[in-house]
Amino acid sequence: MTSLLKNKNLSYISPVWPQFTGLEIEYGKGIYLYDIDGKKYLDFTSGIGVTNTGHCHDRVVRTIQNQAERLIHGQSTVIYNQPMLKLASKINEITPPQLNCSFFTNSGSEAVESAIKLARHATNKTNIICFQGGYHGRSIGAMSVTTAKSIYRNKYQPLMAGVSVSPFPYSYRYQQEEDSLEDWCIKELEYLLKTQSSPDETAAMILEPVLGEGGYVVPPKKFLQRIRDICDHYGILLIFDEVQSGFGRTGEFFAFEHFDVQPDILVVAKGLASGLPLSGIVSSRELMEEWIPGSHGGTYGPNPVAASAAIETIKIIEEEKLVENSASLGRVLLKSLYKLKNEYPFIGEVRGLGLMVGCEFSSHHPSSSKIAEEVRKKCLEQGLILLTCGSDNQVIRWIPPLTLDENSLERALKIFENALIKVEEIIHEL
Ligand SMILES: Cc1ncc(COP(=O)(O)O)c(C=O)c1O
Repeated sequence: MTSLLKNKNLSYISPVWPQFTGLEIEYGKGIYLYDIDGKKYLDFTSGIGVTNTGHCHDRVVRTIQNQAERLIHGQSTVIYNQPMLKLASKINEITPPQLNCSFFTNSGSEAVESAIKLARHATNKTNIICFQGGYHGRSIGAMSVTTAKSIYRNKYQPLMAGVSVSPFPYSYRYQQEEDSLEDWCIKELEYLLKTQSSPDETAAMILEPVLGEGGYVVPPKKFLQRIRDICDHYGILLIFDEVQSGFGRTGEFFAFEHFDVQPDILVVAKGLASGLPLSGIVSSRELMEEWIPGSHGGTYGPNPVAASAAIETIKIIEEEKLVENSASLGRVLLKSLYKLKNEYPFIGEVRGLGLMVGCEFSSHHPSSSKIAEEVRKKCLEQGLILLTCGSDNQVIRWIPPLTLDENSLERALKIFENALIKVEEIIHEL
């Protein structure tokens, strides 16, 4: 196939998008992407946590085709489109009883904006507390609660007012024991409520139950439980952003299930619709009734084609037991990476839940981000696509499609180990 990267095609595309692989992909199927020369790549990025059912799952493709023949757009304040009605009730089936009312929009950022707006309306309060290292998107409101990397904020500030940032128990970064760090973080949060954002002005706290872009960090269970208690005590809403961690990614349908803590508002996107742009927030009906009709909305959400893809996606996750697969292959992945950590001392920490696993390169090494980048590139040369995350891109993240099988995981691990061997040889040059 002829490459479109030559000529002037690229100059017509904004350079604001960085490019990590340079691959020109013709098509994708399952866990593979195929470039224009027919070379196949194991896609362990899932398009950043989107294609949990694999690329172009047959059932998703058929559903999209069928729905496209029936209704492509049905604006939700003009008509009720049927996929939207069905999707809302399907989501009701997979969420706890009090999360029984959905609002849909298109992207993760828009869903975060929606959660913030709902929280402000429902509480008549203005302030939002977010947590260090969190990523919630790049529209102004979502960016204002994002602290994963300063590049997301630089030259856009000042951002939305009324936001305070509380520490997140990232024990490898702070080089502190989990228990004492968790306790310190909660004390800092309580201090913040006394010194910066008083409870009677604080509408909500927003966080990712498992930190995503910030480094794939799993907090102690007690941390989320104590945040829940503080929110209940002061009448502050708790928003969980599960844009990246939802839909089976962590080995439960939603990551909050690992912690026995439920949010007042759940933010979903990415894995929801297997690649079609769709996102939403889910809360109690009671809370949604505080949202003044017409004060929020949009032209597209939920698009009927995307909504029908989402219904099929959820059914596939259930019927193909992808949550269970994520949990069991996640254990295999963690075990293998722990083993590699023992053999390669420049790996600092391995952590994760299900198929949301991070491998952080040692903070004792001055160029942990260069190591991560070299490993990533050497994997790519061998046909494995991985991404990095963390404030310095010092973490390799593993987010393969949940349709992954054990043999392919083993192949990816072998490639990863080869890359570690090659990087070890040149580590003094980095
Ligand atoms: C946890 C989380 N929230 C929000 C977003 C923003 O989603 P989008 O890029 O669809 O706007 C992302 C995207 O990576 C995310 O990981």
